[in-house]
Amino acid sequence: MPRLPAGFTWGAATSAFQIEGALTEDGRGASVWDTFTATPGKVRDGHTAATACDHYHRYEDDVALLRRLGVDAYRFSIAWPRVQPAGAGPANGPGLDFYDRLVDALLDAGVAPMPTLYHWDLPQALEDRGGWLDRDTAHRFAEYAALAAARLGDRVRHWITLNEPFEHMALGYALGQHAPGHAYLLDALPAAHHQLLGHGLATAALRAAGAPHVMLTNSYTPVVPAGESEEDAEAALAYDTLHRRLFTDPVLLGAYPDLGGFGLGGDLPFVADGDLDRIAAPLDGLGVNYYNPTRVTAPDGTTPLPFAIAEFEDADTTDFGWPVVPAGLTRTLLDLTADYGDALPPLWVTENGCSYGTGPGPDGRVRDQARVDYLEAHVEAVAAAVDQGADVRGYLVWSLLDNFEWAEGYHQRFGLVHVDFDTQVRTPKDSFDRYAALIRDQRP
Ligand code: FCB
Repeated sequence: MPRLPAGFTWGAATSAFQIEGALTEDGRGASVWDTFTATPGKVRDGHTAATACDHYHRYEDDVALLRRLGVDAYRFSIAWPRVQPAGAGPANGPGLDFYDRLVDALLDAGVAPMPTLYHWDLPQALEDRGGWLDRDTAHRFAEYAALAAARLGDRVRHWITLNEPFEHMALGYALGQHAPGHAYLLDALPAAHHQLLGHGLATAALRAAGAPHVMLTNSYTPVVPAGESEEDAEAALAYDTLHRRLFTDPVLLGAYPDLGGFGLGGDLPFVADGDLDRIAAPLDGLGVNYYNPTRVTAPDGTTPLPFAIAEFEDADTTDFGWPVVPAGLTRTLLDLTADYGDALPPLWVTENGCSYGTGPGPDGRVRDQARVDYLEAHVEAVAAAVDQGADVRGYLVWSLLDNFEWAEGYHQRFGLVHVDFDTQVRTPKDSFDRYAALIRDQRP
């Protein structure tokens, strides 16, 4: 295994709705995901996150697992509806108390807390007023960021504003596969802008509270044209514009890419004067979530989109059906480095992982060799990118625990730790031990 530079940060990641449970405790308000999971037909087999990993009550056990894993950092998310049950107004003290306890437990364990302020659990009260399609949500988000920083900023150094605004827009507002469940296709675009504006305003709020390290986490995927044709190449470029450049150019370059290919040439009506300056506030790092490349072909005429998604035919796939292509991570990191040049802050792989359903064998051991292989290959892929000039500062595995995987419910298991959702018994898998050893070997 090649060595990553000294000072490289090793970590693991989770998110609030996927692990916490305790959805009505200590004054938490409902989120769009509470509503979505309660809507028949939205989540596979009607699974809900009512208990999930019961992390809200078992966080000390989970911090002990992080300590045993030997990670430097833990990326978790703060549930906005715990802090502001209706998405506005003063902080709900008991809700923030939970994160206060978690942060202290992490620091005691020698693990740096890395909270994400928004991992898709919008307070339902804000959705009732338009959610991310409404500009006001951006301002509410900054207000919430200020409340979180006022309470935790004396101990938290690393902040992440949003998780994957592309996925949230695409799955939540364009295709209806995630909460809040809208299928507005290209009319979902204001949800991109308002999330980015929220990111910019929240960054200013975090800075005002003295936050020393602020990042945005995007999902990235290298785009592969399905064939050799000019049309496939154009479709690949269009997909890259929507997935990557729409969420990166404004933040790093202060301008939107040309959306002419989407029938949106010229000024975007929802962008107000001064927005781009706010969105382009300097960052200390860019979070990169990578799972797989995307194969794209010319549009098939069934949607207004200038591309169609094609299957990978010759790659191994995880239980989720996602192709396993470690070289795609190297390429993602190198493409960002080449395409954004001096405008690019240091990169952090804030999520990378795989779904395999392997459970405990008769001896209780979870032999998830496929995840061990995935993990090793992707860490090597990061090292290869660093070798070729990418400035990468950290790598965080998705996920510490098997958890509630959104529309798939508990059917996809991404954890280094197996969770029995009937008993809440946690069993570290072989991949947990392999990651712990890898981290130990990387220490100077
Ligand atoms: C990412 C999400 C994360 C998890 C993984 C598998 O898109 O950020 O919450 O669901 O996918």
